[in-house]
Amino acid sequence: MSFLNQFQALASQSKCLNVALWSVFCLGVLKATTLILSFSSMIFDLFLLPAVSFSQYGAKKGKYCVVTGASDGIGKEYARQLAKRGFNLVLISRTLSKLEALKSDFESKYGVQVRIVSLDISKDTPENYEAISETCKGLPITILVNNVGQSHSVPVPFLETEEKELRDIITINTTATLMITQIVAPTIVQTAKESKCKGLILTMGSFGGLLPTPLLATYSGSKAFLQSWSAALAGELKEKNVDVEIVLSYLVTSAMSKVRRTSIMIPNPTQFVYATLKNIGRRCGAQERYATITPYWSHAMYHFFIENTVGVSSKVANAINYSFHKSIRVRALKKAARQAKQQ
Ligand SMILES: NC(=O)c1ccc[n+]([C@@H]2O[C@H](COP(=O)([O-])OP(=O)(O)OC[C@H]3O[C@@H](n4cnc5c(N)ncnc54)[C@H](OP(=O)(O)O)[C@@H]3O)[C@@H](O)[C@H]2O)c1
Repeated sequence: MSFLNQFQALASQSKCLNVALWSVFCLGVLKATTLILSFSSMIFDLFLLPAVSFSQYGAKKGKYCVVTGASDGIGKEYARQLAKRGFNLVLISRTLSKLEALKSDFESKYGVQVRIVSLDISKDTPENYEAISETCKGLPITILVNNVGQSHSVPVPFLETEEKELRDIITINTTATLMITQIVAPTIVQTAKESKCKGLILTMGSFGGLLPTPLLATYSGSKAFLQSWSAALAGELKEKNVDVEIVLSYLVTSAMSKVRRTSIMIPNPTQFVYATLKNIGRRCGAQERYATITPYWSHAMYHFFIENTVGVSSKVANAINYSFHKSIRVRALKKAARQAKQQ
């Protein structure tokens, strides 16, 4: 007897059972269909659709892009790949020498104008924000990349987190990101209106914020905050013709991640930023989330898998994440002890 015959035989036993079985069947079909559709949409985004054109944001028309945390890692790649697309730049980070080197490199290689602002974003001072405001004054800015971020130096229990580390993470990842956006976004809105193009605000989120992450609790909370804030801002600025996106990433090789070797799961900043800019406006691995993108293919699949199995906020995900970061902590502490012995 086929499955359908068995099903009909069972359903014919009582009216109630009939309704219940058909409801379960229809719900199953609906769930399977949405899963297949969103998986197909992810595959299209990641592998089949052509790269998004940045002419919609004013590429090669003298427009400016502001990048925070621009002197290294992912931020440096955002700056380089946006300069390559024909955007002038305002680069913000701490180390003046690195910023000066990038300015002369980008200006000579890509023929763009580069302004630099050297400041410590963890110092939440009016002078910092005035310096950014002064540098950006009068510029036709269409893109802001809120890239700067700080994590814990090693995974650490929340109750043992040093106050300075806790305050720096919150100031850099949240307060300063919001303040800089308040300074730059009005110019983006105005430039988009006057130039009849679109504006773009990208903010670096993290899997650390997507999944509540034990032993990185403060970082995790700060990135989760950015997710909600950015999606809310996306709703507000949509009617002003400004796209707002939170960019979700698993590990990328950088000074912050302390990972040097690339692998299937860990791209370098060039690969990560290429995937991000190619797919702006698409969801990739974040199919069910508004104004959110998980752009790198293996991160996207991982995000999709977690979301459609145990769920990002589940007990199981939390426990796996805890044991993963516990082992990183043990190794980091052993390494620190070895280094201390050698000195
Ligand atoms: N790498 C990853 O695995 C990963 C994963 C998920 C999300 N993310 C996110 O991606 C973003 C970039 O991370 P990354 O790995 O590229 O970091 P990174 O390589 O450590 O680079 C950080 C950049 O920010 C600047 N910076 C750091 N502290 C600063 C401060 N107090 N004031 C001003 N500038 C400061 C640094 O330059 P100076 O030192 O010269 O100031 C550098 O240009 C972060 O928001 C991070 O949370 C990274």
